[in-house]
Amino acid sequence: VSDRLKKVQDKIADMVANLGDENSSKLFATIEHGKMLRSKLMLKICGSDEVIPLCAVIELIHLASLLHDDVIDNADLRRKKPTVNALYGDRSAVMFGDILYSKAFYELTFFDPFIARVVASAVNTLSIGELEDVAMSAIFNYDEAKYLSMLYKKTGVLIEASCIAAGFLAGLDHEKLGVFGKSLGVAFQIVDDILDITEDEATLGKPAFGDFAEGKSTLPYIYLSRALQGETRDKLLSLFGKKCSAEEIGWLKDKFAEFETITQVKATAMDITNEGLSAIKHIDNEVVSATLLEIAKLQISRKF
Ligand code: IPE
Ligand code: IPE
Ligand code: MG
Ligand code: MG
Repeated sequence: VSDRLKKVQDKIADMVANLGDENSSKLFATIEHGKMLRSKLMLKICGSDEVIPLCAVIELIHLASLLHDDVIDNADLRRKKPTVNALYGDRSAVMFGDILYSKAFYELTFFDPFIARVVASAVNTLSIGELEDVAMSAIFNYDEAKYLSMLYKKTGVLIEASCIAAGFLAGLDHEKLGVFGKSLGVAFQIVDDILDITEDEATLGKPAFGDFAEGKSTLPYIYLSRALQGETRDKLLSLFGKKCSAEEIGWLKDKFAEFETITQVKATAMDITNEGLSAIKHIDNEVVSATLLEIAKLQISRKF
C-alpha cells in the first residue's frame, strides 16, 4: 500500500474510533480493506493531502453500501472474510451501515457545500439503484439500457462523485472527470458481473456464480439470452433465480464459451471505458490523465 493510501486507511480507522462506540469498533475490526479503487482514483486526481479525509468519507459510504448489500444479497463472504450479517446477523449489519453513512455525512459538512451535495446526492442515487436492482430481480430482464441505467445508479454514481469531488479540490475540470468516473464506474460493475461467472470464490473473496441465482440478469445473461433459441433459451430462463447444480453451472459455462458471450460483454465494457477516456484526453494535467488511463485499463483485466 502506498503512503497516501495508508493515510486514508488510518483516517477511516480514526473516524470509526471517534464514534466512541464499542459495538461499532467490534464490528469494524472484522472488516478487511478492499481494493480502494475510489480512493486510488481520488489520490491520483488530487495531489494535495486535503483529499485524504474525503477519501475516508467515500470509503465509509462504500463500506456502508456493502454492509447493506450483503444483507440484501444474503452474502456470507466479502473481502475473503465472513460478512457482518453472517457473523452478527442482519440487524447489526443494517444498523452499522446506518452508523457509517451518518458518520460520513457528518464529516462531509466540513467540506465545500458543492462537494457535500455531490456526494450526498450520489448516495441517494446509489440507494435508488440498489432498490431498482431488488425490483429487477423479480423477472428476467432483457433490456440492456435498463440494466446499464441501474448499474450507473448502484455503482457508477459513487465513482463519478469521487472523481468530481477530488477534481473540485484539485481545481481541475471536474465535469470532465465526472464523465470519466461515470464510464469507469459502469464498466467496473460490468467487469464485476463477468468475474462472478469466470472466477471462483477463493479468487474473488466473495461468493462466485451467484448473480443469476440471486435473480440478477446481468449483461452476460442478457447477451446469452439473445444468442439462444427455442429449448436452449427456455432452459436458460428456467435457471433464472434458482440455485444451480454443478451440472447446470457447467451447462451455462459451456454456452457462454460457445457463443463467446464474455468476449462480447468485455467489448461493451471497453467501449464504455473509452467514452470516458475521451472526456479526459484534454484535461489540463497530463500526469492525471495518463494515470487515470492506466487505472481504467487495469480494471478491465482485473481478476477480483
Ligand atoms: C464491490 O465494490 C461492489 C461493486 C460496486 C462492484 P468493490 O469491488 O470496489 O469492493 P471492494 O471495496 O474492493 O471490496
Ligand atoms: C454492488 O452490488 C453495488 C453496491 C454495493 C451499491 P452487487 O451486489 O452487484 O455487488 P457484489 O458482487 O455483492 O460486490
Ligand atoms: Mg452483492
Ligand atoms: Mg447487490
